[in-house]
Amino acid sequence: MTEAPGAPARPRVVLGVGGGIAAYKACEVLRRLTESGHAVRVVPTKDALNFVGAATFEALSGQPVATGVFEDVPDVPHVRLGQTADLVVVAPATANLLAKAASGLADDLLTNTLLTARCPVLLVPAMHTEMWEHPATRANVALLRSRGVVVAEPASGRLTGKDTGKGRLPEPAEIVELARLLLARRDALPRDLEGVHVAISAGGTREPLDPVRYLGNRSSGRQGFALARVAAQRGARVTLVAAQTADLVPPAGVDVVRVGSAVELRAAMLDVAARAQVLVMAAAVADFRPVALAEHKIKKTDRDPEPVRLTRNPDILAELVQHRASGQVIVGFAAETGDSTTSVLDFGRAKLKRKGCDWLVVNAVGDGKAFEVEDNAGWLLSSDGSETPIPHGSKAMLASAVWDAIALSGELRAFAVRTLE
Ligand code: CTP
Repeated sequence: MTEAPGAPARPRVVLGVGGGIAAYKACEVLRRLTESGHAVRVVPTKDALNFVGAATFEALSGQPVATGVFEDVPDVPHVRLGQTADLVVVAPATANLLAKAASGLADDLLTNTLLTARCPVLLVPAMHTEMWEHPATRANVALLRSRGVVVAEPASGRLTGKDTGKGRLPEPAEIVELARLLLARRDALPRDLEGVHVAISAGGTREPLDPVRYLGNRSSGRQGFALARVAAQRGARVTLVAAQTADLVPPAGVDVVRVGSAVELRAAMLDVAARAQVLVMAAAVADFRPVALAEHKIKKTDRDPEPVRLTRNPDILAELVQHRASGQVIVGFAAETGDSTTSVLDFGRAKLKRKGCDWLVVNAVGDGKAFEVEDNAGWLLSSDGSETPIPHGSKAMLASAVWDAIALSGELRAFAVRTLE
């Protein structure tokens, strides 16, 4: 992983690949990591090479590939790779590999690297549901997590053969998002939302005019999906109420409820609010909807077009606050442009008071900011008056800053104590 003189150091990632059929997806993880500027060294197990040849990993990474500790001995790779890495990602991590990592076995290059790594370690499991649920695997996962290793929640869906269930490797885009989050945090993701049910709305609502037309907005849903993904990986049970979004990968380990209009989104959020402890309104909800929904497609006529008459949609966040259950934490979002007299932050402060929620994430929008882009920045305002700037970074990074604040807050600690009693 030598850099050209003068070039900024690229983050060094060791990509471990276990011997499971999902090893082929590691190629896509590798491609995405190298294309986004990471120096990646692939360390497969011997069994992984039954699924993908070393030449593929070497060509995609531009680095040599070895599985054992007796290759390239003068370079001491079994120690050096772990010591010099900024992040170790293992995808797929088989049940066998989790067991070896938990017991500290070191019989090949990958397991040696896991023992010598002092950077964040992300293990992304893939196995059959029975293996994932086996008490031995549960104990290994719990032990690894207690040591600060991030063992990702697997996705649910089609497994090898005819089976479906929990144990599927999350999609490469999701693995890379988590990897980049750990690199940016330079720290593990804590499991501090275990036992907490969170409900998050995301995306833009569509207000129908007729069977083929609607009024919509430019929200991509990325920020809400990132909040759901990070919460699930911190141990929360997550219900994601998704309105219209870009073509996004549903986060692994999350229950997704699809909705269309603001009225549907309201019904879904009020329903889940009866069971959830934290409610996050990240959706871009249309404030108005057409008064009438035409039963048939509106036809072009020779007459001038009729103006579309609108009526007000319910303010869902305000309603959630009004019906707040005891101990429930409610988070709103404010996408603001500011104007000639009022700053984005002042609009946010006023909105926090008006809506009555506990937290408000304020983003500046317009000029290519926040909507339909990968990155975000803003402020986290709390009803206790604190204001925390959130620096520019990925939407997962903003999500992790929001969860850091909420997990530390008194409300959630009080809830955790109550559930443990
Ligand atoms: N929101 C909602 N129901 C609506 C409109 C917005 O629950 N009908 C929620 C959004 O999900 C967000 C927060 O309220 O969490 C603020 O949304 P925003 O559009 O910024 O605020 P508005 O109340 O619509 O105020 P304005 O458009 O005047 O800025």
